[in-house]
Parts: sequence; structure tokens; C-alpha cells
Amino acid sequence: MLNLGKLHFGGDYNPEQWPREVWKQDIELMQRAGVNLVSLGIFSWAKIERKDGEYHFDWLDEAIELLHQGGIAIDMATATASPPAWLTKAHPDVLPINFDGVRLSHGGRQQYSPASKVYQQKAAALVEQIAKRYGNNPAIEMWHVNNEYGCHSPYCYSEQSRQAFIEWLQKKYASIEELNAAWGTDFWSQRYYDWDELVVPKRTPDGTHPNPGQQMDFKRYSSDAHLELFKMERDIIRKYDQKRPITTNFMSMKFTYAMDYFKWAKEMDFVSTDHYLAQHDPLNHIDLAQQADLTRGFADGKQWLLMEHSTSAVNWQPRNYAKTPGQEFRNSASFVARGSQGSMYFQWRQSQAGSERFHSALVPHAGSDTRVFREVSELGAWLKSNPDVANYPTDQANVAIVYDYEQFWALMQANLPTQDINYAETVAKWYRAMWENGTRVDFVPADASLETLSKYELVLMPLVHMLSEQEERVFHDYVAQGGNLVVSYFTNTADRTLRVKLGGYGGKLVKELAGVYVEEFYPLREGQGALSNGYKIELWSELTRNLSADVIAKFVESDVDGSPALTVKSHGSSKVWYQGTELKLGSQRKFFKSITKELGIESEGGESTEVVRRGPYKFEIDHEKNKVKLRNN
Ligand code: GLA
Repeated sequence: MLNLGKLHFGGDYNPEQWPREVWKQDIELMQRAGVNLVSLGIFSWAKIERKDGEYHFDWLDEAIELLHQGGIAIDMATATASPPAWLTKAHPDVLPINFDGVRLSHGGRQQYSPASKVYQQKAAALVEQIAKRYGNNPAIEMWHVNNEYGCHSPYCYSEQSRQAFIEWLQKKYASIEELNAAWGTDFWSQRYYDWDELVVPKRTPDGTHPNPGQQMDFKRYSSDAHLELFKMERDIIRKYDQKRPITTNFMSMKFTYAMDYFKWAKEMDFVSTDHYLAQHDPLNHIDLAQQADLTRGFADGKQWLLMEHSTSAVNWQPRNYAKTPGQEFRNSASFVARGSQGSMYFQWRQSQAGSERFHSALVPHAGSDTRVFREVSELGAWLKSNPDVANYPTDQANVAIVYDYEQFWALMQANLPTQDINYAETVAKWYRAMWENGTRVDFVPADASLETLSKYELVLMPLVHMLSEQEERVFHDYVAQGGNLVVSYFTNTADRTLRVKLGGYGGKLVKELAGVYVEEFYPLREGQGALSNGYKIELWSELTRNLSADVIAKFVESDVDGSPALTVKSHGSSKVWYQGTELKLGSQRKFFKSITKELGIESEGGESTEVVRRGPYKFEIDHEKNKVKLRNN
């Protein structure tokens, strides 16, 4: 994976929304603000291809030339993110069909099914034109394929999608028998005898839900179907440009789950992502840090690029609060500290028309004599004055959190012991406890190799509900080689087909490594929620027997009083802690503090300050005092 030599500063540039006089002014203002990169053409399909096969590049040539003359590099988009009206009118089956069987309409964006052959052909033809025309253009620094795959319509339930899903399943399963076994189709008469009987998991009669294995595979298929689109575009670009790196912008956000980014990242030259704050949340800097760390995980610890965030308010939250003075600088510094090669935005100039006209930009409606423009220009200057930072990846942490989109998918399903399980919230709470303790963490996938896990003193496993036998073995080997684990309730309860592992929940990981036998789940009732050591808990308790662990605390306000709730088991120099419940934040902080202290894992900062290093550079960001310090030790 590439590390993109320099720190980038700029954003999405949509000159097609403005008359030519504004373009000249844009270049001048970009130079003033220190912009060195813009993403061009992301939503330009209708402007480039005005009729089927009739391409108009004159305006784009002109914009590219202006930028190049102005010394501003281009992140060239493939323009395939929003098919034009002429296309969906002529070929309505480009449009996706939703869960209820309704065909979605033209008029928004991303209105295409990944399974649509027409979409695939027309997108490929467009990319071919763009890549051929600009493949050697010196103004281009990198390529931006499509935009936020899966953001608005990750799933399509059309007949074409059914066919594509069947083909995907045929590659995965050697026979229909193997599929029946994996999905457990003897339940409710769901057995399939012929591939063509298979359906996409659309709405089923009230009170019922499609087969769990079928749902999982459909989510896997959907992520792969979009990934195939990315690969198709990438490979076309490569024919014409063998040098410049190719990316697509992820959405590393708390509740974004549809694309399996750990898998996607392997196909990209470098990882880029978008991130938007929940601006009503005064602690949103912790979410920002988490998502930045997660993105660094996708990038396997290497530098990555923040492709979009906002200079101030967005336009799609219930109340779109503006950023407070200094906040944007602080936010950007945190992204850079955590490995971003700069700070890019949506978008350069605030739109005058269209549904994003009240979304902030570098140049607001009010012009350049504004707080926003002054603050972003200050940031541009700061990035420019610290070019050497780009040469160092963020230092590796000593603690890793296991993160896995498939767990997200599994735990979103209905018919679990409680509907209150929330993968994103639990991971965020574990992260926050560590952040507030000043303990840095990295993210690793659930199928991480032993080599990856072995880089960490401590690995945290929140709600890692499914593990294959092979994956489970890696965690055993990690402990055997001296690693330490914290395992949560409902972890390793099932294999990757969602088939439950029998004989004490949690399989060998919980029985042998944690030394606990879990018999039965007891979601907490209203008013319950404490442990014998005074820790506060929520959501979950379980009936357990201690096999060979040391009990740290038992349930005391629950239906299973006396059952072990928190335990630890030693394996030589390694330790495995088990949490048979969901600790509240304050208690989780204490618990993690005691563990990191015992393991000698250092902490720095905490409470409201983050301290992060990139080699010799130390970033200290105080979110309460609104201060950023960057030192070179
Ligand atoms: C996403 C998109 C952008 C824009 C922003 C608004 O990140 O990629 O085109 O719509 O959201 O926040």
C-alpha cells in the first residue's frame, strides 16, 4: 500500500455548478488557502455524456488546465456515482429495487443496481473514455473511483440481483447440498433442490425473517458486488495509467456497515475515507479518533487519506450545528495525527442550488471574508509548514480491538436474545474507555493472522459473535505465544454460517481460554445492573459456571445472582479476561485501567486530551481547551 508522499489539502471541486468567471476566482482562492489537491468530476456523468455515447470533455479539459496552471493537483474521479436521466429512462432496470420490491427512482444519486449489466457496461464505457483522455495528463495525481460505494443503495433485490446472487453462491458452495447445510434449511421447510429456487432475502410474512445464513450471504454478496464494480473501473484506469494511485472513498463512520472495508482495502493502492461528525455530540472527537484509527486498520497501519469531512455544518442531520471556532483545526489535526496524509473536504465552494446548498464548504455562501475561510486557510498553512510529518506512519499501539463488518451484520439480525445488542455502540464504548484512559488502540480484523495479533500486548474482543475454527485457532495460538485477551459475552457463539457452537456458549475460546462455562443468557431487566465489586452493568447477564478461572466479580442484581460475571485465567505469562456482561462506561474504564496497569501498557493524555505520535512528531490535542500542539522531539 502506498503512503502518498505529501500532506494534502483541498476538497471536492464541482466547477460544473458554476459559470466560467467563478472558476478563475476559485483558482486564486485555492492558492490563497493553500489548496494543493481537488477531487474533480465525481458527479459529472450527465455533463460529460449528454446522450448515449456522446461525450463532451471540452469543459473538463478547460477546468483541468486551469487547475494545472494554478499549481493545483487533481484527484480525478470516474464520474460513475450518479447515472444520468437518459440512461435510467432508457433502461429502468439500471435502477435498484428495495427490500419491499419497490423500484427506486431517478432524482437523487447512486440510483443503480450493482447487478445491472447495462450500468456495468455504460460505467465501463465512461471510465474508458476518461482514463484514455487523461491517463497521461500531468495534472492528475491520483484516481477517485465512483463515490462512497453502498452509501445510499447497498442492496438491490431485483431479478438481476437474484441471478447475480445465485452465481456468487455457486462460487462459494460446491453444491446445493452444501448451501442447505450452511444455511440450516431443514428449519421451516426452507430446503432448496435447485439453484434456481433461491431468492434474495426480501420481505417475508410478518413476524418472520429470511433465513439467517441467507441474510449473511446476501450481505457478503452485496459488498462483493460493489467491490467488483470498483475493480472493473480500477482495471480500466490501469490500462491507461500505470503510475498514479487509485482509490475510492470509504465511509468510516460509526453506523456505516454495508461494505466490508477490510476486504476492500486489499484491492486499493491506498485507503481513503470520509468522515462526518455527529455534531450534536460534545464528545464527537472520540468518534473521530476511533474512525481514524479504524481507517488506519484498513490501511494495515500505513498512511491513508481523509478524502472528505466538513468545514462546518452538514445538511443531513436533524439539526445541523455549525462547527465552533477552532474545532475544525482540532479535528483535522486529530485525523493527521492518526495517519491521514492531509485534510480534504466536501466541498470547495458551497452549492447555490441542489439539496446540498446548506452544507458547508471551504468557500461559504458568504464568501472568503469569513470565519470558515480564514480558519481553513490557517489549517492549509499549518499543513504546508509541516511537510515532514507525511514521512512517518502513526506509531503502532500496544492494544488492538478486533473489528469485523460481518459481526455488525450478524448482530443486526432479529431473533437474538435481546434486541438491545448494538455492535457499533459496544465497540464505541470500549474504544471510548481506552481513549479516556489515554491508552491508544489499533483495529485489526477478526481474521487477522497470528503475525498481526502478535504485534499487540493486548487484544480486545467485543461482541466477536462468529468465528470460524481456523480463526478461533489463531486466538488460541496468540495466547499460547504470550498474548493477552479480553473476551466479551456473546463472542464465538457461532461459526461463520451462524450455526451455534454447542456445549457451553463461546466454544473453546470461552471454555478453555477463559475457563468459563456459559449455560444460558439472561438479558437484564429494568432496574437490574450491578456486580459484586460495585461495577455497574447493562443489557446482559448470563448463567455461568466457573471451570478454571479466577472470579473477579459476580452478578448481584440480576436473575443469575452468584454467577461469575468477570473472570481472568492465566496461561503461563498470558491472561484471558472474560466479561459475561456489558460494563457501563465508568466501570469499563476502571476495568481496562487495571488490566493495562497490570500488563505495563503505557498511557498518555486521556480525559479530554489526546497524545499521538508519528515517529518524531508528537501531537497533543486538548479538546477542552481547544488547543493543538505539534512538537518534533
Ligand atoms: C458524502 C458525499 C458527498 C457529500 C457529503 C455531504 O460524503 O460523498 O458527495 O454528499 O456526503 O456530507
